[in-house]
Amino acid sequence: MSKTVELGRERITTAALRQMKTKGERIAMITAYDYPTARILDEAGAEILLIGDSLGNVVLGYENTLAVTVEDIIHHTKAVARGARRAMVVADMPFMSYQVSVAEALRNAGRFLQEAGAQAVKLEGGASVVDRVETMTGAGIPVIGHLGLTPQSVHQLGGYRVQGKTSAAAQKIIDDARCLEEAGAFSIVLECVPMELAAAVTQAISIPTIGIGAGAGCDGQVLVIHDLCGLTSGHTPKFVKVYADLGSAMSQAAGHYIREVKSGEFPAREHSFTMPASESAELNGLYGGGRKSEASGSGKSR
Ligand code: KIV
Repeated sequence: MSKTVELGRERITTAALRQMKTKGERIAMITAYDYPTARILDEAGAEILLIGDSLGNVVLGYENTLAVTVEDIIHHTKAVARGARRAMVVADMPFMSYQVSVAEALRNAGRFLQEAGAQAVKLEGGASVVDRVETMTGAGIPVIGHLGLTPQSVHQLGGYRVQGKTSAAAQKIIDDARCLEEAGAFSIVLECVPMELAAAVTQAISIPTIGIGAGAGCDGQVLVIHDLCGLTSGHTPKFVKVYADLGSAMSQAAGHYIREVKSGEFPAREHSFTMPASESAELNGLYGGGRKSEASGSGKSR
C-alpha cells in the first residue's frame, strides 16, 4: 500500500489512484460545487471531488452544460478547494474552453490549477483532444479524459443516449481510451456506455476508469451530488441511486419555518437577545414595551 493510502489523510495523488486500480480498491468520485458540500464529502472519504460542468444543470438552472463558463468553474472550484483537504480537486473544462486551440486549452487548464486551486482538470473527447491532453500533461497538468456520452456534444449526439452499443462504436471508444492513456491522461470517465464495454476499456488500459452509468466493471464510480442526495428535480436517470431524500427534508424544514414565522412561534426567547433589566425598564418607560419581541439582533450575529 502506498504511503498516501496508508496515512489516510494525505492528499490523494494520481499515483495513489493508479495504485488503487492495481490493488483492486474502488475509487469514489462525487461532484461538488461549494465549500460546505466539499467539506462533508472530503470528510466522508471521497477520493476525488469534481467541479463538473453539471454545475450548469444542477446549480445554475440551465437546460444543459453548454452555458457554463471558465469563470463559473473557477468560482466554484475555489470554494471546493477551500473545503477539500484530502480529496483530489478536479475542475471540469467547460464547453469552448479547450475546443478552439491547443494554446487556449493549455491557458485555461492552467487557470484552474493556478487561480482556482484544482489539482487536475477533466475534458471530454478522445482522439480529437489528444493534442490538448499531451500539451497539458507535458506542462505538468494532470488530466482526466471523458468518453461515451459527452454532454457538451448533446446536440451532435441528438440527446443524452447510451453510447458504444455496437461493436464498431465500442471499438472506437476503446481506441480513444488507449489514445488518452498514451497522451498522458491519468484516468478516464466513462459515461453511459454498456457495462460490457466499460469492463473491456478497464481491462485494456492501465489507468483507472471511473464510471457513471457504465456498470460495476470500472475502477471507480462518480455521481452528481444532487442526484445521490435527492436534490434533483424532474427525471432521475436509470444509473442514479438516490441515497438520501434531502429535497424532501429541506422542503419540510422550510415549510415548518415558514409556518412558525407566520404564527409567531419563531423566534422563541432562546433565539433572542436581552437587555439588562434596568435598561429594559427604562426603554419600556420611554416606548411602552414595543412589540412582543424582546430584542433586536442582526441575523448576522452568531
Ligand atoms: O459534469 C459532470 O458532473 C460530469 C460527471 C457526470 C462525470 O462530467
